[in-house]
Amino acid sequence: MRHVAIVTGASSGFGLLTTLELAKRGFHVLATMRDIQKAIIFKEHVKELSLLDRIEVYPLDVTKQEDIEAFQKKVEEFDHVRVLVNNAGIAIGGFSEQIEMEDYRRQFETNVFGVMATTQAILPKMREQGEGTIINVSSISGLVGFPGLSPYVASKYALEGYSESLRLEMMPFGVQVALVEPGSFSTNIWSSGMEIAGGVNNDQSPYATYMEKLMATMESGKNKHGDPQLVAKLICEIAMMKEVKKLRYPIGRGVRAQLMLKRLLPWHRWERIIINTILQEK
Ligand SMILES: NC(=O)c1ccc[n+]([C@@H]2O[C@H](COP(=O)([O-])OP(=O)(O)OC[C@H]3O[C@@H](n4cnc5c(N)ncnc54)[C@H](OP(=O)(O)O)[C@@H]3O)[C@@H](O)[C@H]2O)c1
Repeated sequence: MRHVAIVTGASSGFGLLTTLELAKRGFHVLATMRDIQKAIIFKEHVKELSLLDRIEVYPLDVTKQEDIEAFQKKVEEFDHVRVLVNNAGIAIGGFSEQIEMEDYRRQFETNVFGVMATTQAILPKMREQGEGTIINVSSISGLVGFPGLSPYVASKYALEGYSESLRLEMMPFGVQVALVEPGSFSTNIWSSGMEIAGGVNNDQSPYATYMEKLMATMESGKNKHGDPQLVAKLICEIAMMKEVKKLRYPIGRGVRAQLMLKRLLPWHRWERIIINTILQEK
């Protein structure tokens, strides 16, 4: 029996690398993306034909109901689906007062409802086959709040809650659920995949100085961003586990230390650390 894995948002970053890594490890990968013109990237990255043969590209915008329905029909063609990696995501930042409700909704459409809809499409198959692993790509932002990023943070916290419940629901049916929680890694999400509602250079904004320091903090942090291949490898390791013992798999420089500090420090000291780090930035 061939092992089928589905990856959403396979056109770049973690999704692309996870697709390649899963294919290398023998999975038949259904690499889904909203713009299949971008599938050319696999030909650019993979020279081995046998590997390319294991990657099947399929169009899927996780926010479009018609795409989800067509995708569900596609999934029915397979006897067995071993793994689903819900990876597709966008990041919307800005200060809450200045963010349009439409932007909050767009953020949730992709990072939360998109995951729920994709998961619903494959759950009947996994439940019937009595096994399967669903890996949801969350973030340190699903565990730690950060100013100027409330749409993204709220979406990842929602994803965490959804995954925690889903894991318990699916346990009696042999379907396992895990969360991968990366810190900051070098992918497009912090450039082309990121939108700042209200703009970054609005001098008239009461948040102008705060925003400037926030952007400086993000900029100075970029040279510490991790290698996204490490995240792809972790996702594959979880995909290959017979028993996924933990719900949460944090990864990245300083991530575990941050989580420990958040848990142990009195709350006012913890938030002072965050705010001082930003406000001291030049
Ligand atoms: N990089 C980090 O530091 C970091 C840290 C924590 C968590 N994450 C999470 O990792 C996941 C992958 O992001 P990345 O860092 O690899 O960034 P990325 O390179 O920007 O990848 C995001 C992927 O999601 C796809 N996507 C966006 N909206 C979609 C939609 N409606 N339907 C289907 N696909 C959609 C993008 O497709 P297009 O090519 O069409 O835009 C792209 O393939 C996200 O969930 C993100 O929140 C990233």
